[in-house]
Amino acid sequence: MCGIVGYVGKKKASDFLIEGLSKLEYRGYDSAGIAVINNGKVEIRKHKGRLSNLVEELSNNSAEGTIGIGHTRWATHGEPSDVNSHPHQTSKGDITVVHNGIIENYSELTQWLKSEGYEFKSATDTEVIPNLIHYYYNGNLFEAVVKATEKLEGSYALGVVSGQEPDKIVAVRKDSPLIVGIGQGETFIASDIPAVLNYTRDIYLLEDNEFVVLTNEGVEVFEANGDKINKEIYKVTWNEDAAEKGGYDSFMLKEIHEQPKAIKDTMAGRVALNEKVNLGDFKLTSEELENMDRIYIVACGTAYNAGLMGKVAIEDLARIPVEVAIASEFRYRNPIVTNKTLIVTLSQSGETADTLAVLRDAKKIGAKTLAITNVVGSSISREADSVIYTMAGPEIAVASTKAYTTQAVVMNLLGMYLADLKGLLKSEEEAEIKNALLELPSKVEEVLNQKAQIAKIAKLISQEKDLFYLGRDVDYALAIEGALKIKEIAYIHSEAYAGGELKHGTIALIEPGTKIIALKDKMISNIREVKSRGAEIIGIAYENQEVDLSVFDEIIRIPQISTRIAPILGAVVLQLLAYYVATRIAPILGAVVLQLLAYYVATERGCDIDKPRNLAKSVTVE
Ligand code: M6R
Repeated sequence: MCGIVGYVGKKKASDFLIEGLSKLEYRGYDSAGIAVINNGKVEIRKHKGRLSNLVEELSNNSAEGTIGIGHTRWATHGEPSDVNSHPHQTSKGDITVVHNGIIENYSELTQWLKSEGYEFKSATDTEVIPNLIHYYYNGNLFEAVVKATEKLEGSYALGVVSGQEPDKIVAVRKDSPLIVGIGQGETFIASDIPAVLNYTRDIYLLEDNEFVVLTNEGVEVFEANGDKINKEIYKVTWNEDAAEKGGYDSFMLKEIHEQPKAIKDTMAGRVALNEKVNLGDFKLTSEELENMDRIYIVACGTAYNAGLMGKVAIEDLARIPVEVAIASEFRYRNPIVTNKTLIVTLSQSGETADTLAVLRDAKKIGAKTLAITNVVGSSISREADSVIYTMAGPEIAVASTKAYTTQAVVMNLLGMYLADLKGLLKSEEEAEIKNALLELPSKVEEVLNQKAQIAKIAKLISQEKDLFYLGRDVDYALAIEGALKIKEIAYIHSEAYAGGELKHGTIALIEPGTKIIALKDKMISNIREVKSRGAEIIGIAYENQEVDLSVFDEIIRIPQISTRIAPILGAVVLQLLAYYVATRIAPILGAVVLQLLAYYVATERGCDIDKPRNLAKSVTVE
């Protein structure tokens, strides 16, 4: 977790550092700090809490200088506090470091460095790094960083500066993301591309164990042994605006509204009515598929929930057994993975540590690996045998929305591809599914047009302490995702249940007034069971679906399309619902006004839509 940035150029470094950090705050916001080299001296400003605290400090105590590094923290070792904030500095000099990742052997390194006379102030794992670099420093910062990393176990993206060599930043990555931006007379490092996008579109995507030296002369990339590496420039083609809020009050709301386009883009070049589904570099022969013993879809959080949709799509269409596994659990099981197994790692960021670890383990065993991810050049995309990108564009909000629906679409494409290969898909079925998929973007628009009604309903449930989400079959998978959304951004305890399962225990919790969100399909008798215990039911039903209005307190209608695809629309409803509950929107004065109002109500309540408490966008630690 955490985000790091660095700047070498002719302008005031702190201006970029603050701007860059603001683009990375989704990675963590427990504290923020910068270190700038001013007349050969490293000056540090750092503060517990949001970046705004640091900005305020800089307005009273500015940091001059044209070279600097910065950090926004998601705490792993040591509470959020000023002393635990980055940058960290060696106790014996001015070698100064920002770090994203976790140093697993920091305790033994700390003991050893203490015996060498180094002192430690913080509770972080990071503080060993500047001390270790200082220990090896012999007049060459690059060499000292290389030697220090030889001792480090764990993951890191580092930015290092020192007053002894005031003209440079040395950076390196291992198992934590880091990119280099190459501008006009200025260079940058950052944990993610949006941080530098206002300055350059020319990027080096660093690989593990590549070291970078940034000076006013430019950027050089080295192997640990000092050999120079000629990196290819990756040109960012997506619009700068894609990483900004574009007029919306939060990234989450913007990303919810981007779903029609994200889905369309994800299907572009892959789905055409009279052609086979084209999954680009993912190709299997019929023989390979015949020999395949099983498919695992491995993922975390929302991506896992999309995997549940994938299981249904692949099993329904291709009749291949699929197990969906939580990555952090899978690693500690003894799963049956062979060289005949297909491991599908599903991840928006492509950097989730647990998912990446499963991918690496699977490769060691010789399993075939497929990555489905949204981030070009991410670790998971680079390490898997093949990759299918969800073309959702950058997803900034912590709560995943457009990544989920595009993952669900790709899952359907994968199911169709495999079914086709097995000769199981009749051409009229294929056409029906494709038609439904191609219709999805406009149908999602229709759902988005109902946001005022959804906002109204959200208001009704915004004060609840507990919510239940019920669904059956694919709708149960959606219920799980809906419950997660409301937990993570509205902080309301919510549980998803398979409709028929509730009566085996949990129905004991239902009492008059309990609010239930029911994805209505195939579940009416289960809904009646809770209604008769006094629950208030918000139903999500297809348009034209017959509904007994005496059972439902509220009904949200979603457009009817072919059954396998339609539940994706239900997800959009759930995302909107979660969004609006979090922000307590009053819908009376129209959607735009309500959204703005909601933002302020949420802020008043402490519900920060894009930065929910305790969460970070990209979970790059185990
Ligand atoms: O980047 P990934 O898709 O691998 O991330 C997995 C989860 O951390 C992520 O989906 C998380 O659950 C989201 N905050 C949910 O909205």
